[in-house]
Amino acid sequence: DREDGYRLWLKYDLINDAGQRDAYARSAQFIVVNGNNPVLKAAADELQIGLQGLLGKSIPIIANAGSRTGGIVLAVGNGPTASNQELNAEGYQISSRSNNIVINGKTESGVLYGAFGLLRQLQTRQPLSTISLTSNPKVRYRMLNHWDNTNGTIERGYAGGTLWKWFELPERLDPRYRDYARANASLGINGTVVNNVNASARFLTGEYIQKIAALAKVFRPYGIRVYLSIYFPAPKTIGGLKTADPLDPEVRKWWADKAKEIYALIPDFGGFLVKANSEGEPGPQDYGRNHADGANMLADALKPYDGIVLWRAFVYKADPKADRFKAAYEEFGDLDGKFDKKVIVQVKNGPIDFQPREPFSPLFGKMPKTPLAMEFQITQEYLGFATHMVYEAPIFKECLETDTYAKGKNSTVARVVDGSLHGYAITAMAGVANTGSDRNWTGHPMAQANWYAYGRLAWDNTLSAEAIANEWIKMTLTNEPQAVKRIADLMLRSREIYVNYNTPLGLSRPWSGVHFAPEPWQNKSSRPDWTAIYYHRADSVGLGFDRTSTGSNALAQYSPEVQQRWNNAETCPLPYLLWFHHVPWTKKLATGRTLWDELCTRFYTGADSVGWMQQQWAQVKNNIDPETYADVAARLETQHKEAIWWRDAWVLYLQEYARQPIPAPYKKPK
Ligand code: GCU
Repeated sequence: DREDGYRLWLKYDLINDAGQRDAYARSAQFIVVNGNNPVLKAAADELQIGLQGLLGKSIPIIANAGSRTGGIVLAVGNGPTASNQELNAEGYQISSRSNNIVINGKTESGVLYGAFGLLRQLQTRQPLSTISLTSNPKVRYRMLNHWDNTNGTIERGYAGGTLWKWFELPERLDPRYRDYARANASLGINGTVVNNVNASARFLTGEYIQKIAALAKVFRPYGIRVYLSIYFPAPKTIGGLKTADPLDPEVRKWWADKAKEIYALIPDFGGFLVKANSEGEPGPQDYGRNHADGANMLADALKPYDGIVLWRAFVYKADPKADRFKAAYEEFGDLDGKFDKKVIVQVKNGPIDFQPREPFSPLFGKMPKTPLAMEFQITQEYLGFATHMVYEAPIFKECLETDTYAKGKNSTVARVVDGSLHGYAITAMAGVANTGSDRNWTGHPMAQANWYAYGRLAWDNTLSAEAIANEWIKMTLTNEPQAVKRIADLMLRSREIYVNYNTPLGLSRPWSGVHFAPEPWQNKSSRPDWTAIYYHRADSVGLGFDRTSTGSNALAQYSPEVQQRWNNAETCPLPYLLWFHHVPWTKKLATGRTLWDELCTRFYTGADSVGWMQQQWAQVKNNIDPETYADVAARLETQHKEAIWWRDAWVLYLQEYARQPIPAPYKKPK
């Protein structure tokens, strides 16, 4: 069979080493599951599929172990022997008891995650005989956000069209829906927002609710609940009301009725995601109300049900004099404590918009009474679409590990998000999906790792980027130790390499239009704050956005310790330099080079490093299947070409301001 990437990290290829296979087989002679709970059945089925592949044996599912040993026992609640004291609702414990491997969870979902956890042990070749694992998700709502439209397109999607075949639903269920659910469940993702935040009101019509209910039915045995992005003025556009004012009683009733209609068909419906008064989307401010008024109205509508409102904080106004960086804090900071208990405010990484490197949003740490969700972007909108290899775990980790100092040292963003810092009652992480209808789901084969890494970090933000890369490689590409090491190295360096040729030293948004081509010179747009020059501020003196007190003073939104880290151009770490400072071209940096020379060094070494990536990839040719090898090798070729394109575009443009020669090592030989 041609390897087409469809099976993702759930490949379950036969383990080559017969000794290892036998050892595993001795501990996996049968699978015990009692009753016919659909979630437990999904867990048992997955174990059966996985073991069939890995061990080349068909393992029976039985209802009772009796006196048999050497099998896998699925147990809910106070399982046969294991104490589940330390488990939270979705956590699991895998242990060896009376010569069986027991997967124990407080709920069926916990057992399901444990089943995938056990398979991961085999896939990464860990010993089973002494297994003793306890794992709890740190965050309660672990979500994917799909930016999918009714017409089948995906906003910022680079892997084909939508997975959801709206025209076939609800009658026909594409088998792929189940594979989608399996892949997500294997990571612990438990919620999916099926449609674009720039939402069509059609998703709230009876016609679409039926389609979404059909999807929900497929996802349910995998512990996944569906959510909808809503169009705030829907009471007007599809409800025929005169207003969508969140304080209007008729509007409130409309939403309450809508919720009732949805829950009648989808009893475990997750709730609403909302983009309001953002980039032209309507919202409560159109009626003189604030974000809390809008969010609380929806929370009220969901009151009788177990649903939540995820209200996005991605807001900024079309004001060329304002600093977009500050907008979210300015609009939301004062609303802390004003939101209903069912509301989570969803905050992007970072304050501008999913750039290759951004400082964390100043909202983290500043809303102690309002649960804040982290929104990461998995799809590579600003990371070279489907041709650039950028492993994103280092981006996510860098943000999560940054200290906000909100309650003194060790107030990391991760601790804000997982609720341990402020004691949030509900917690969430969201990832903007990179999936699509491409056979391999994500376009670039290596982009599968980004879906994987996001999911693993949503479950446990303490995992390292390296550990996650190693797992993913072993499950997806190869278990050969040298090759694993080489690929992990390549992945772990890929983000910094991209930043070097794309947006070094804290540059941002050098694109126009579709966010792909380099256009740092772009100075015209329908909105002044959508030009490239708004962000980099190149002039004859220097480069960068002054966000200190001599400039926009956005830094004042952070805790004093954070301000101190970033507000002095002499000591500001170079990755953030131009985020916060307008630096003269001739200024000597910590590297001993002037700003101009340092920029050139980064652009040139960045582009060159893609050549290094190609060499590294060539070294693993014999360790991975030929189709994946060739696919990635070809994309790296494109990436190399485009990295040079980026380098030259930036250097030639900035040179007009810097008026300096390209440093000697990088000049083309005559
Ligand atoms: C970015 C992206 C848009 C998207 C927006 C959002 O600006 O380019 O396509 O709608 O983010 O997150 O709402």
